[in-house]
Amino acid sequence: MNTIDLNESGKVFREEYDHPTVLFQDDGHAIYWLGVPEATAFRSNTYLIVDQNEAIIVDPGGVDHFEFVQNRVSQILPPERVVAQILSHQDPDVAASFPLWVDVNPYIKVIASSRALTLLNHFRDCRYESLNSIDHPEYKFNSGKVIRFIPSPFLHSPAAFTTYDPFSKFLFSGDIWAAVDMEWKLVVEDFSTHRLKLNLFHLDFMASGKAARGFIERIRELEIDAILPQHGSIIPVRFIPMALDYLNRLNCGIDIFYPDIN
Ligand SMILES: [Fe+2]
Ligand SMILES: [Fe+2]
Repeated sequence: MNTIDLNESGKVFREEYDHPTVLFQDDGHAIYWLGVPEATAFRSNTYLIVDQNEAIIVDPGGVDHFEFVQNRVSQILPPERVVAQILSHQDPDVAASFPLWVDVNPYIKVIASSRALTLLNHFRDCRYESLNSIDHPEYKFNSGKVIRFIPSPFLHSPAAFTTYDPFSKFLFSGDIWAAVDMEWKLVVEDFSTHRLKLNLFHLDFMASGKAARGFIERIRELEIDAILPQHGSIIPVRFIPMALDYLNRLNCGIDIFYPDIN
């Protein structure tokens, strides 16, 4: 198992992809980065939240990544102990492997917004138990710890939501703060250069500055120690104020396509 201290400045990710990477661990609660370390600029991150003997996979990814991700999970616990999968939205890079996790554990809960749940069976028609993140904005582990679901509509999908873990103070942000970069590190080391990598995704994919500012309002009270996006590097605590400011000032999507229409 690799362990990384997100608070330790200058720590570089060593390219050890044959083990899960521990991002947080305390009181039977742990968060892992599972991959996927493919050599493309548009890499996808899958995470695992473990609480005592329950595990939840966050944005399991595409079908081609399933075997890799399942292998990483099996190094932590038996994959059938994954009790839920969080799908931040219905894009194939997030959700296409979801039916394969239903095969692993037929009782697995699919946590997604109602706007995504209506589309998921286009990946494969299958029966599964679902939890609508809009009607049920919280998941409680057997230990009593909770994770919270915060809608982030139109960033970029109408179905998008983020997941906040109050115990680790980690925010799983889906495509928000996603970055595109060939020279990838697990953790951001320099936010001024990272801004350019964020632009490569946000200017085209995010709907509007209004959607971004609306989301910032929703998370204003949260204490955030790390942002874990679905693409690109993790943003550690020292860059959180800059990351929030980036989203607050974002001009993107329809702001750019239709500059003359208010
Ligand atoms: Fe997406
Ligand atoms: Fe994505």
